[in-house]
Amino acid sequence: MTSLTSHNTFGVIASCQQLITVTTVAQLQQLCRATQSSVTLLGGGSNTLFVNNPETVWLMDIKGIDVIKDRDDAVLIRVGAGEDWHELVSYCVAQEWGGIENLALIPGKCGAAPIQNIGAYGVEIKDVLQSVSVVDRSTGSRLELHVSDLGLGYRQSHFKQEWKEKYVIDSIVLRLTKEGHHQIKSHYGAIQSTLAEMKADSPTLKDIYTAVVQIRSAKLPDPNVIGNGGSFFKNPIIPISQYQQLLSQYPEMPSYPVDDLTVKVPAGWLIDHAGWKGKQIGNVGTYSRQALVIVNHGGADGAEVIAYSRLIQQSILDLYGIQLQREINVV
Ligand code: EPU
Repeated sequence: MTSLTSHNTFGVIASCQQLITVTTVAQLQQLCRATQSSVTLLGGGSNTLFVNNPETVWLMDIKGIDVIKDRDDAVLIRVGAGEDWHELVSYCVAQEWGGIENLALIPGKCGAAPIQNIGAYGVEIKDVLQSVSVVDRSTGSRLELHVSDLGLGYRQSHFKQEWKEKYVIDSIVLRLTKEGHHQIKSHYGAIQSTLAEMKADSPTLKDIYTAVVQIRSAKLPDPNVIGNGGSFFKNPIIPISQYQQLLSQYPEMPSYPVDDLTVKVPAGWLIDHAGWKGKQIGNVGTYSRQALVIVNHGGADGAEVIAYSRLIQQSILDLYGIQLQREINVV
């Protein structure tokens, strides 16, 4: 048995029969050809909550950042699935390559980023992703899938659903802008006020990066200090008619536009205003500075975290008539 406790940022106790570290595409292809049984794939373990002990885990550790096209206005880079996402963001900002600076400090590995279409502060990976390279689980053959074929939406993709057992991502290709061609995205409220404090009137990539790091560090718990998996729930998308009804009762409830019929409501606001912020039951609690994050105060197992999350879901359903969906991946 191998412990998985240091391989999940929740820090829950879990183990597996066999842990295989995958460092090359050839090894991955060979493993796919040789393995017919079900396998759990793990990157940084930052969006995974272990409830059961998986039998076999493949730890994706394929490295490499390669420039595959270098033009005047943009650069195309291929990044191994096992590269750390935040280190990649820092590297790109240092190279003066633009597009992912708003996604600084998101925990996890690059191969996991398209699976839930990571996003923050007005940017999603879908905005800069060109393609992903995958290995077919059943045949071991390798193919390149274009971004438009991945079913990317708000915290979703085909990889999270129908392709769960079908493909393993070995690398991703990003299209980043070069100096003079950047599209600085500073419209997200918290960024604007932080940039104003920094006195960054015409913000650079580095300014945006610094602002995002500052905002996230202030609001989100560092998994090395307190176990967590970032946002535990997705922000629910509800009919505008329901939102308007809720507004008459809760005039302060924020929303983000989605389309003509629906709006997105911040789950953190709902949970906070239901009184959960900073609460603790046993080893599990709601983070004191961001109610969307469930934390392991130490010693929790996956079942305890799930039980706590169900209490929140029930309370939100009772109070607002909204069913929260988990954002986290339960294994
Ligand atoms: N809010 C509260 N109380 C809270 C938390 C939030 O009232 O405890 C309110 C805020 O005041 C704000 C609104 O809810 O009006 C939204 O909060 P915030 O800007 O912090 O963002 P979020 O909707 O809670 C989402 C992502 C985060 C991402 C941020 C920034 C999801 C599920 N989460 O959070 O992603 O960093 O926006 O763009 O979409 C993650 O996926 O792990 C994650 C952290």
